[in-house]
Amino acid sequence: MNILAFESSCDETAAAVVCRDDNGSFTIKSNIIASQAKTHALYGGVVPEIAGRAHIEAIYGVAEAALREAGCAPSDIDLVAVANHPGLIGALLVGVNFAKAFAVSNGIPLVAVNHVYGHIAATYLGTGDNTVKSCAKSDEDSSAKNSAESETEGAAKSDVPRPPFIALACSGGHTAIYLVSDYTDIREIGGTRDDAIGESFDKIGRMIGIPYPAGAGFDALAKEGFIKVTGDSENFYKKFRSSPFYKSRVMALPSPALSDGSLDFSFSGLKTAAINLLHRYEQRGEELPRAEFAAAYTYEAVEAVAKKLTEALERYPGCDLVCAGGVAANSHLRARLSEVVRRRGVKLYLPPLSLCGDNAAMIAAQGYYEYESGHVSGAELNASALDTGI
Ligand code: KG4
Ligand code: ZN
Repeated sequence: MNILAFESSCDETAAAVVCRDDNGSFTIKSNIIASQAKTHALYGGVVPEIAGRAHIEAIYGVAEAALREAGCAPSDIDLVAVANHPGLIGALLVGVNFAKAFAVSNGIPLVAVNHVYGHIAATYLGTGDNTVKSCAKSDEDSSAKNSAESETEGAAKSDVPRPPFIALACSGGHTAIYLVSDYTDIREIGGTRDDAIGESFDKIGRMIGIPYPAGAGFDALAKEGFIKVTGDSENFYKKFRSSPFYKSRVMALPSPALSDGSLDFSFSGLKTAAINLLHRYEQRGEELPRAEFAAAYTYEAVEAVAKKLTEALERYPGCDLVCAGGVAANSHLRARLSEVVRRRGVKLYLPPLSLCGDNAAMIAAQGYYEYESGHVSGAELNASALDTGI
């Protein structure tokens, strides 16, 4: 079964063709992403109106490239999947309307996909030997890329998570813990009460001079800080807590893990404390040790996630762990979660770095299971900005 999928919830216009093979695995035939990140970087974050317009300009070319690179004609497509919530409404509508038009005019079934569930489904695509043909396409800022070309790590293709499992979806817009009882039976059991973890990296990163999206730059700067503080280029994360720097509390920041027995976070609390700390440096006219600050911030964020996921795994014994979304690319988080599962004797599934951020291949994977569950939509399909859909 060939699935053509679309993703346009934020600042990436993406289309992919994914084949669900008879042996039950997925093969990515094409995975085209036209990123608007450079455009939004000028404003320090995503401007919704600009995003919507850029999606309109990009979507036809992205869809055409996805079909061409997959070697598929419209008649080869058996299912169309589209992310219809949550996200920026003006952005989502572009993908939804394009997908509807394509499905209806070609007489192909259409399924709607929750973008966040799509992130989780990125792990069903596995890594390694997924067959992907080279398919860079030209777009407005030339950063379109075939995101599945550079598979480096994650579970092997044959080793994919099977429900029930616990999943953390962590991205620019979401930080939520789910109990995935079945592929389409997904219940939120914890999450942020305010800012998302990625949003907090982006905002604090911007304040210390890292351009949007700041996540990857923050990750690298934190590594530099961990190494400076511990003097160890290998075991820096483990040694950070016992370092004189950490113990001195010169950059003490609160944990975003709420201590009320829930599986919830408040990243806005951590963010506000960090902003106050930055202001204090400014008021004293002292130069901020940026790398050490990034390390201290990352440490609190990652420890909070590790703590709540440990609690979730305790509540649901025997469940494996999935961590997905843009922030799942964070090297410190990836390493720390490996330790969490090792201690509990369960498995950790992480998408390859190339499938952590927004892409349409993950929408295809979840779309397959929505179709299997009979969740087919018609031409009346709408988009919604809300987590709950319409
Ligand atoms: O999933 P995604 O591409 O889009 C949303 O659905 O929001 O996630 C984007 C987020 C951004 O906040 C970005 O800064 C963050 O993922 N991110 C990272 C890393 N790479 C991307 N955050 C921390 N460490 C990274 N290495
Ligand atoms: Zn996303």
